[in-house]
Amino acid sequence: MAVISLYLVFFVVLPAIVLIAHWSSRCRRLRLPPGSLGLPFVGETLQLISAYKTENPEPFIDERVSRFGSLFTTHVFGEPTVFSVDPETNRFIMQNEGKLFECSYPGSISNLLGKHSLLLMKGSLHKRMHSLTMSFANSSIIRDHLLVDIDRLIRLNLDSWSDRVLLMEEAKKITFELTMKQLMSFDPCEWTESLRKEYVLVIEGFFSVPLPIFSPTYRRAIKARTKVAEALSLVVKQRRKESELGEKRKDMLAALVASDDHGSFSDEEIVDFLVALLVAGYETTSTSMTLAVKFLTETPLALAQITEEHEQIRAKKGEGEALEWSDYKSMAFTQCVVNETLRIANIIGGIFRRTMTDINVKGYTIPKGWKVFASFRGVHLDHEYFKDARTFNPWRWQNNSGAACPANVFTPFGGGQRLCPGYELARVELSVFLHHLVTRFSWTPAGEDKLVFFPTTRTQKRYPINVQRRDRVQTM
Ligand code: HEM
Repeated sequence: MAVISLYLVFFVVLPAIVLIAHWSSRCRRLRLPPGSLGLPFVGETLQLISAYKTENPEPFIDERVSRFGSLFTTHVFGEPTVFSVDPETNRFIMQNEGKLFECSYPGSISNLLGKHSLLLMKGSLHKRMHSLTMSFANSSIIRDHLLVDIDRLIRLNLDSWSDRVLLMEEAKKITFELTMKQLMSFDPCEWTESLRKEYVLVIEGFFSVPLPIFSPTYRRAIKARTKVAEALSLVVKQRRKESELGEKRKDMLAALVASDDHGSFSDEEIVDFLVALLVAGYETTSTSMTLAVKFLTETPLALAQITEEHEQIRAKKGEGEALEWSDYKSMAFTQCVVNETLRIANIIGGIFRRTMTDINVKGYTIPKGWKVFASFRGVHLDHEYFKDARTFNPWRWQNNSGAACPANVFTPFGGGQRLCPGYELARVELSVFLHHLVTRFSWTPAGEDKLVFFPTTRTQKRYPINVQRRDRVQTM
């Protein structure tokens, strides 16, 4: 027993004390941004979690910014972390991706996403895959190929709406179906629906305790991830066969299966890549759809103005005629609504990075290997950059209002090398969705529903609404 204790002291306790002492003296030497590391081990994680369970969007950040300024140190999710609520620093972080900062997700996330996911890739492979993704979702591809299906699938979904609808669920279904079509050319069918059910379990895993022993949700998510991967690898194999026979398609999978100057991707790489794209566009776009409707419902003047804009577009078109690119481009007020929704309640509150070296910023040093959180929402909700920042006011985005914000302050889609490749696609999907919603339905909320921000931005009851069809009946 005494020998074991001696071993423990020499090989565990003493090295730990030396490490901590070394670390603390290094931190004292390196002038860190002000802040508090909270309790040993848990840091300020519990304060963060409880803060975001309230309706206030940024209580954790607000309190610390008022005490320490827009760059502060804290300790959350097991690591010391510097939070930046400063647009200039955020831009510096995004522009130095791969040089001074790198993305960093916990292992639990990579188990669910797959190690070849774009979100986890680094270096030249990341550059190549990022530009491939950009080329599949750019404006001309949306205009020439994707828009027609976005319009058709959204209409198809809205056709089945009657009485009471759980808007968040419907928006998720729509978003999933759109992504399946864009990535692999699948129209909704029994197979896509069963894949979606597994996929929903994977997504739940992202918001659970990532310990298989303690969390049945995480266990279920890992199992569902395997099933999704199996189903998608069959699709990849089938597509390879078709491509050998000379069949050509114009979707993302076709681009992945075709080898280029850099060689070809393995089935596993393609599957991971597809899963990551399904994940990246799913919660983000569907939450924005739901919240845009919630904010419009609570702002009748804005709802009236957006309805008028879309009725004018409809009036120029035949019954059931699909939207075209020029229609999308004429939705000026809708773009204000989209911006304002993304400003006020973006599901991506900010981005985590890890420093690759000691970083000097604003007179402080952030040590190598530390986590950094560039808060977008904190900036978006700062009164310094947006007048009455916590109020939904789509008119602030109108060119002639003079209230437009300075460059680099509004970054709902990130920036730099990891700029969201789906930024235009998301805007188009949201706009087309709003078009069909306001021209075909009127609605009232079916009861109170609160906006919460943890573990993710959402309404607590998935925003139930009672819908009534408007007079004009559209056909497919
Ligand atoms: C309202 C909807 C959306 C929002 C607010 C959003 C926001 C973001 C943000 C902030 C990032 C940067 C993450 C980082 O720097 O770590 C990002 C990355 C990404 N987004 Fe989106 N996104 C949306 C929709 C979409 C859609 C529809 C797609 C589908 C193509 C998509 C695909 C991606 C991918 C693949 C990445 C990773 C890029 C990389 O790491 O290189 N997003 N998104």
